[in-house]
Amino acid sequence: MRKKIAAGNWKMNCTLEKASELSNKIIEAGSPDGVLTILCVPSVYISTLLDKASHGNIQIAAQNVHHKPSGAYTGEISVEMLSSLGVKYVVIGHSERREYFHETNDILLEKTKLALSAGILPLFCCGESLEIRKSGAHLDFVLDQLRETILTLSVEDFKNIVIAYEPIWAIGTGETASPEQAQEMHASIRNEVAKVFGQEIANDTSILYGGSVKGANAKEIFAKPDVDGGLVGGASLNGEEFITIMNSF
Ligand code: 13P
Repeated sequence: MRKKIAAGNWKMNCTLEKASELSNKIIEAGSPDGVLTILCVPSVYISTLLDKASHGNIQIAAQNVHHKPSGAYTGEISVEMLSSLGVKYVVIGHSERREYFHETNDILLEKTKLALSAGILPLFCCGESLEIRKSGAHLDFVLDQLRETILTLSVEDFKNIVIAYEPIWAIGTGETASPEQAQEMHASIRNEVAKVFGQEIANDTSILYGGSVKGANAKEIFAKPDVDGGLVGGASLNGEEFITIMNSF
């Protein structure tokens, strides 16, 4: 059965003090029954937060991982390092990584395979720019991102993927995709997964929506049949706001 997931992507935010405070609030509130909460935290805080937060339905994730197993890549973090800490999830393919760090589909596929080989589950992101959305090519564009990456995996590997659809025009802009726009894309992704891996696997795949999700809009977005939760940026930095989102299923 597919999971309902509330994931918070803290991006490059929070001091250690703020990270502790925020995670304490979320742990205290607890993840509602049947909801998996994943906190995607800056890598310097992973160890500390894993110790206090990673149990049952609250998990700590990395926001990125390098696409080579090890070696002379100063400043980078490997899947082996993450798995030696006990990390179970990693964000791969966020549009900010694609844009600012020039991560191509090939690189993202390498990262995905390495993560899976270490037993770490990817939250694999996809999403189109405003220009592509306006041109009407958004469905094809996003499906191509997936066809060139996770849809080439073996079925056994694919079962461990969570997909996050994040339209770039809705990230940090306050402009959210309408629930109908999210549903249209999610249904089209699920349909493509079914074509490649079969309907049963498609039904079991969690597809999250990301882009200006907040306490006030989460419920109507999550209510759509193909939306299985959210990957939340800005609003995940506010404890009360994020707890409202966790309780919006
Ligand atoms: P916002 O929720 O700030 O729009 O960010 C979404 C996002 O990029 C999550 O990964």
